[in-house]
Amino acid sequence: MFETLKPQVQEILQQETHVDHRLQLLCDFLKKEIPYYDWVGFYFKNGDKQELKLGPYAGEPTDHTIIPFGKGICGQVAVSNENFVVPDVAAQDNYIACSITVKSEIVIPLFKNGENIGQIDIDSNTPDPFSEADERFLEFVNDNVAQIL
Ligand code: SME
Repeated sequence: MFETLKPQVQEILQQETHVDHRLQLLCDFLKKEIPYYDWVGFYFKNGDKQELKLGPYAGEPTDHTIIPFGKGICGQVAVSNENFVVPDVAAQDNYIACSITVKSEIVIPLFKNGENIGQIDIDSNTPDPFSEADERFLEFVNDNVAQIL
C-alpha cells in the first residue's frame, strides 16, 4: 500500500499552491487513504519558544494547539529527536488525550538541514496498528515535506 502512495505524496507536495495548503491536502490524503489514520497533523517548533504549534491537520479539531517541549508524546519527540510509536495510549503516563476514541499514536520528527523543526502526528482509533512500514513511510513523507519548507 505505502509504495503506491509515495508518488501521490510527492505529487501533492509539488503542487503550485502555498505550503500550508499542500500540507493540508497531504493530511486529508493520508487520513482518507489509510484506514487506521484517524487524525493526521503537523506540529512545528513555535519560533524560538520551547513549544510546538499545531499546523495543518485532518480530523477532529483539538484544543492542543500549543504543546510545551517535553509534554505528551509530541513534546517528548521534540526533545528526543526519535520516532515514538505508542501501541496503547492508556499505558503512557506522559500523554495528552485529544479524544477518548484514540487508542494509539505515532509521532515522527521532521528534520530540515539536520534540525528537528517539527513532526507528523497520527492518532488511531485502532489498538496497536502501526508497524515499521508506517515509520519508514512517514519518514519518507517528512523528508519530502522538508524539501518544500
Ligand atoms: N496525543 C498528543 C497530543 C496531540 S493530539 O494527539 C492531536 C500527545 O500526547 O502529545
